[in-house]
Amino acid sequence: MQRKQIKNYISSPLNYIGGKARILDQILPHMPSDIDIFVDLFCGGCNVGMNVSADYTIYNDISKPLISLLKAFKRMNNETIINRINALINEFGLSKTRNHNFKFYGGDANKGVSAYNREKFLLLRERFNSHPKKDNQYYILLYTLILFGFNNQLRFNDKGEFNLPVGKRDFNTAIEAKLVKFLDALRMQPHEFQTKDFRKFNFADLTENSLVYCDPPYLITTATYNEKDGWTEQDERDLFAILDKLTEKRIRFVLSNVLHHEGKENSLLIEWIGQHNYRVHNLFMDYHYSNYQKKSKKAESQEVLITNY
Ligand SMILES: C[S@@+](CC[C@H](N)C(=O)[O-])C[C@H]1O[C@@H](n2cnc3c(N)ncnc32)[C@H](O)[C@@H]1O
Repeated sequence: MQRKQIKNYISSPLNYIGGKARILDQILPHMPSDIDIFVDLFCGGCNVGMNVSADYTIYNDISKPLISLLKAFKRMNNETIINRINALINEFGLSKTRNHNFKFYGGDANKGVSAYNREKFLLLRERFNSHPKKDNQYYILLYTLILFGFNNQLRFNDKGEFNLPVGKRDFNTAIEAKLVKFLDALRMQPHEFQTKDFRKFNFADLTENSLVYCDPPYLITTATYNEKDGWTEQDERDLFAILDKLTEKRIRFVLSNVLHHEGKENSLLIEWIGQHNYRVHNLFMDYHYSNYQKKSKKAESQEVLITNY
């Protein structure tokens, strides 16, 4: 079947591996239209919560740097953010592919601008890692690292230092437009942010008109956010127990996941679905999803949505 064109959704300026921007057109039709409180329990780049209509949205993610970055950018105005990012780009001499093509920087569409930016990026990373306090400039530095960093990801070592290497891209006009559109929409949307482990989230205030959307790390795939202390079978079981409790209270949930991935199968998930008669909605087979380390091998993942309604 032919994939539908992605509509004019608001996509995140944080490019998550496993981010749902590309399959929003398949997810959104499954969302009811009468939601009072929408909980995006593993919000990542907030792609889903940003596009679901609800009276109130709660974005939750265990990643404190991620949520603090979003909160800081919401407080600042767009012009200040953009000017400050550009000031860092100028100071460190980083590439500007909005003004020159890849060739100008000795790269091409495939290699991007990584070679040109490598040393400059390391200096920027040093600046960030020695920045003394978590003020607005700290988050400008962090976002600039994400823009120029590997796969636009966010990762820290045990000492709390940003430790990803340079990436292929820079602050082009497309990402700037995404950033502005996203922040404008966020400021208009009634919402709050939380940084709880999903087990600690307070579901008590939800009603039968609420909906909890879960996009956890997938047990049978890997990504930057679950390399270290990865998502375990215990996490999976704990999440299932919470979703069963929500079902008892007649609160709706939607769970994103994959049943199969590169020949592996999530038998725990398949068993749980069967035991409770939850509904499985197959999304189109996605050949581009995930594993950036295995470029030659096409990742075959059957993305599904599991619902209790
Ligand atoms: C697949 S990503 C979500 C992507 C998001 N739906 C999007 O479209 O951008 C999964 C997220 O779960 C978060 N996470 C991992 N373990 C968690 C936990 N125990 N509690 C809450 N969030 C967690 C990660 O930080 C990550 O941002």
